[in-house]
Amino acid sequence: MSRIEVRGLWKSYGERVVLERIDLTIEPGSLVAIVGASGCGKSTFLRILLGVERPSRGRVLLDGAPLPPEPGPDRGIVFQRYTVFPHLTVLDNALLGLELRASRVFGRLFGARRRRARERAAAMLARVGLAEALDALPHELSGGMQQRLALAQALLAEPRVLLLDEPFGALDPGSRGEAQALLLELWEERGTTVILVTHDLPEAFRLGTRVLVFDRVRRDPHAPERYGATVTYDLPGHNRARSPRAPAAERASPRGGPP
Ligand SMILES: Nc1ncnc2c1ncn2[C@@H]1O[C@H](COP(=O)(O)OP(=O)(O)OP(=O)(O)O)[C@@H](O)[C@H]1O
Ligand SMILES: [Mg+2]
Repeated sequence: MSRIEVRGLWKSYGERVVLERIDLTIEPGSLVAIVGASGCGKSTFLRILLGVERPSRGRVLLDGAPLPPEPGPDRGIVFQRYTVFPHLTVLDNALLGLELRASRVFGRLFGARRRRARERAAAMLARVGLAEALDALPHELSGGMQQRLALAQALLAEPRVLLLDEPFGALDPGSRGEAQALLLELWEERGTTVILVTHDLPEAFRLGTRVLVFDRVRRDPHAPERYGATVTYDLPGHNRARSPRAPAAERASPRGGPP
């Protein structure tokens, strides 16, 4: 659980202003859904939170401290189409997240630590319904299974903030419903702060404790690149499963320690 504060954030690429004047406080443990027209800067905003993109102006604080200028294990991300390693099995793909986290220099775990990591990875994969697929290769999985693998991999690193960029966009309605339910379950259980970008308004309200709409408020017809999008609506979502401000003792604590 982490509080994210965004203060006076602007992002431009050259002359093109993508985001402007974004001021937000995201409460620990909330599930914030972001919607907005294609190209309005939602993914850019997530990349800034992830630390792979720097704001042009303003700053982002994670629990009161400036965001480190590179992605770290405190932030996990799942994209619409996740790029798992095609030559690694499901279990090895899941283990990779743990290995990178545990040993950032060497990227491998050895001995007892590796055994414990395998057990944790296998347990998480079972949790997302992939118990029967540990030895499968990613191309042998359906789209829904690949997204569940991606979710498992991101959650195994126990990020303080989980960033989801249209994670269910490519799924059929059935798998999408299942993946949404799974996300809600894991979010409630772990209390992770989740930021979810989606194009689906009902999904945003169903899953979000809060829904943010990104849009441009200023337009210059002669220079469309001059103004960027900002938060135009900040609405309560229908997800009342867990109040973001509830005392920590009322929530389930994250399971397991570091590998
Ligand atoms: N690295 C980059 N260099 C230059 N322009 C960029 C870069 N990344 C994004 N942009 C521009 O920033 C704008 C916002 O892009 P972004 O991908 O954040 O939009 P989005 O809201 O995620 O759109 P979508 O809903 O289609 O995914 C676009 O006009 C895009 O062309
Ligand atoms: Mg995008």
